[in-house]
Amino acid sequence: MTAGHWPLPTAPELSEEARALATGTAEHPIHPEHTPTGQLAFGVFFQGVNSSTIWRLPESGDQVAWESFESLIRTAERGKFAAFFLGEGLRLREHRGVPFELDVAGRPDAQTLLSALAAVTSKIGLVATQNTTFNDPVDLARRLQTLDLLSGGRAGWNIVTTDNAWTGENFRRGGYLDHADRYTHAEAFVQVAEQFWRGEKISHDGAHYTVRAEGTLPRSAQGRPTLFQAGASPAGQDFAARTSDVIFSPHASLSAAVDFRRSIVERTVAAGRDAGAVKILPGAEIVLAETEQEADEKVRWVRDLQIGPEQAIALLEQYWGRDLSEFDPEGPLPDVPPEVEESGVTRGAGFQYAKAEELTRTWREEAKEKGQNILEFARVKSGARRGEFTGSYDAVADRLAEYAALGAIDGLNITPWLIPSGLDDIVDHLIPRLQERGVYPEDYAGDTLRENLGLPPL
Ligand SMILES: Cc1cc2nc3c(=O)[nH]c(=O)nc-3n(C[C@H](O)[C@H](O)[C@H](O)COP(=O)(O)O)c2cc1C
Repeated sequence: MTAGHWPLPTAPELSEEARALATGTAEHPIHPEHTPTGQLAFGVFFQGVNSSTIWRLPESGDQVAWESFESLIRTAERGKFAAFFLGEGLRLREHRGVPFELDVAGRPDAQTLLSALAAVTSKIGLVATQNTTFNDPVDLARRLQTLDLLSGGRAGWNIVTTDNAWTGENFRRGGYLDHADRYTHAEAFVQVAEQFWRGEKISHDGAHYTVRAEGTLPRSAQGRPTLFQAGASPAGQDFAARTSDVIFSPHASLSAAVDFRRSIVERTVAAGRDAGAVKILPGAEIVLAETEQEADEKVRWVRDLQIGPEQAIALLEQYWGRDLSEFDPEGPLPDVPPEVEESGVTRGAGFQYAKAEELTRTWREEAKEKGQNILEFARVKSGARRGEFTGSYDAVADRLAEYAALGAIDGLNITPWLIPSGLDDIVDHLIPRLQERGVYPEDYAGDTLRENLGLPPL
């Protein structure tokens, strides 16, 4: 990928929204030290859980079948995707104290699976989400380096910290880490891993563990696994600005993406790194059709399948903390107070009663004002009716070209709403249009993940 200039020769006319967001000078629309590359890289995010993927259509795959992974990654590689991502959860999701049966459950181990996928691909990056709280650094570093060597420099590590203690109950040490300590621990963890990858003798005495070890493997084609980070709190952003190559962000709307980019550039520069050192790939859903009207209908259809009556009630139950099964999904939001002191664990984060009471009251008022029943309300809350990247092939290509021109993002990490065929129309219809607009690579830049993300050599 080559660095572009602002304004790019191929940049589309910016919309009013984009112009208003570009508060910098013409040379620097976001931050004086940041130059947009004007290029996008795509990743595919195989979440394995959540209602974002529809698992009950006849063409839906199985979330643990080899065919689902192989077929999806082959399509992604055909579309010159930079990376194939696997999410991770180290405990089954639960709802009101029992496994959450409305969701698929149980994900295969990411590194085992990615090692197998390395053998049937040759260019696409292989990114494993791996938690720093419940792994040990030398052990994890060695396995990631093995994947990096096996794949010819295509491994990535999506560093996550997990914000709940209940996951820890599955581990020897239990839920041992305070929320505030997650990133101090993660940073020490990554430093030890980096020492291991450099083949150094490690003598680490830290707050959480003591390590005596020595790197035992040769460097990979990209030097070490590419470091991704997912976690958007200020502490998470600072951690990413200091240590990571890429951020997997939750900020897909144009204004949120621009603000997030500015925040990351400021933190990256403050950490003494180049303004463009950390790439940003927001998670996104793409729903496409030939025309805008067809896309509208398709989005409605997708949403209806993602959030059915049972999912809608379950969503509210997480906030109300009580059984709401007697309420009609076609009726108004429950007019009963929440019972929670802590959230249902499907939400992950701690959720206190006072907040729950305020939130449920606000939601009741909001739904009443908009004339929404439970089902309609839950569908809107689970994702806008029309997301950022839903629409006709041309409209979505134009919109993405605008993101690229502004330098708001470096690409997207796409969660397909259907597996394994959910990337087909993106690869067949959207990518050629992005290539025509000069914002998506015609081919892989190289053989390693770093090269294909446009990251400089180490
Ligand atoms: C886009 C995105 C994807 C994430 N994916 C995972 C995942 O697959 N597994 C996981 O355990 N945590 C995942 N996380 C959670 C983060 O690791 C972290 O626990 C959470 O965001 C809270 O951290 P924060 O307070 O810095 O935001 C993800 C977070 C984001 C923003």
